[in-house]
Amino acid sequence: MKILVIGGGGREHALCWKIKKSPMVEKVYCAPGNAGISKIATCVDINATDLVGLKEFALENSIDLTVVGPEQPLTMGIVDLFEKNNLKVFGPDKAASELEGSKVFSKDLMKKYSIPTAKYETFTDLDAAASWIKNINGPFVVKADGLAAGKGVIICNSIEEGEKALKSIIQDKAFGEAGNKVVVEEFLKGEEASIFVLTDGNKYMLLESSQDHKAIFDNDTGPNTGGMGAYCPAPIVTKEVLEKVEKQIVVPTIKGLNSEGINYRGVLYVGLMIDEGEVKVLEYNCRFGDPETQPVLMKMKSDIVPLFMEIAEGQLETSFLEWKAGSTICVVMSSKGYPGSYDKGVELSTLDNLQESEDVVLFHAGTKFNGNSIVTNGGRVLGLTVIDHSISSAIEKVYNNISKIDEGTLYYRTDIGKKAVKKG
Ligand code: AMP
Ligand code: GLY
Repeated sequence: MKILVIGGGGREHALCWKIKKSPMVEKVYCAPGNAGISKIATCVDINATDLVGLKEFALENSIDLTVVGPEQPLTMGIVDLFEKNNLKVFGPDKAASELEGSKVFSKDLMKKYSIPTAKYETFTDLDAAASWIKNINGPFVVKADGLAAGKGVIICNSIEEGEKALKSIIQDKAFGEAGNKVVVEEFLKGEEASIFVLTDGNKYMLLESSQDHKAIFDNDTGPNTGGMGAYCPAPIVTKEVLEKVEKQIVVPTIKGLNSEGINYRGVLYVGLMIDEGEVKVLEYNCRFGDPETQPVLMKMKSDIVPLFMEIAEGQLETSFLEWKAGSTICVVMSSKGYPGSYDKGVELSTLDNLQESEDVVLFHAGTKFNGNSIVTNGGRVLGLTVIDHSISSAIEKVYNNISKIDEGTLYYRTDIGKKAVKKG
């Protein structure tokens, strides 16, 4: 089989790495890919949002299956376009991707089908929203309806902060059209975790749990990023918690979507807040998480390609997955200054010091070649991912290996996985 992966981050590097292991696969292409991906797949210089260019490439190269990494092409309708051209593709179609593409859509769905989530109100009018928040006691969260690269969520600790957030989204259009509607919701306390669900729109399988670290600094302080590290499994997701997730969230979400005439095929990312064993949905995403995919796929023993193919064909047949024992962890190394402004083009000259193996893999995100050298090309640059017999030994292993490639030019958190150790 010839497989095309769309995207160019750490998630897509992990997808290519995992797909490449399948005996069913003869060639992997990645559009646009990055420097690390180019060592295991053929990178194609087509942007992830150039839907027509991607479709032409898939047709010309007789691609058997396309796996879509990021949300933008999904919400733009890449799956609809590929299917119209008889191309097999793994991912939800445009209507199903609204689950991530519109927070109003996803909150309304949860309310209608009694799926546990934060209480909320939706607004299009600044004055109405500003007057409503005056009645809230304690912190609350203001969210732009549409895609805003993870930046459209503002946690507010006072009415003044809320007014500022609403004004920037509704009046000043800080996130453009994505802010035409806003959701104001109750602030949830607890600990977050991520669950990926593979589904053909009826049958589903839950992958092992993971936990992201969204804040830039240690101890979850500072502004939110795309994710600074993740581990799998997440001990906060106990057997009881997982049963609740399945019964209270996954089943009613899939059924609810069906009742709305939507057949969701792909991976459904459920972002959870867990408080004293009770679960609530913080958000749905219509794709794999980044960086959670890196540790989740390293932990998975089964071949993932049959699952992708079955779902792309509309019929999930696989009913059991094998997982490696132990824990996996990914520590993200970012450009200094991220998530604010940062330089690009910084040379990474010590990457060869790392001895990679099945158990130690350096997934690239924002990297590219400049002649023969590899240079930075984005905020999140690398994600060193390892597996070991316990979370404590995995943490030790990942940081030992990071010290081999750490030239002081990149930044990383030093406490990834600590919360899991405390529970273990
Ligand atoms: P979202 O894109 O909706 O997942 O929000 C991004 C991040 O903001 C989440 O991962 C949480 O860390 C935080 N967040 C979002 N909604 C809430 C909420 N209702 N209560 C507390 N934190 C939240
Ligand atoms: N790691 C968070 C996300 O992928 O949205």
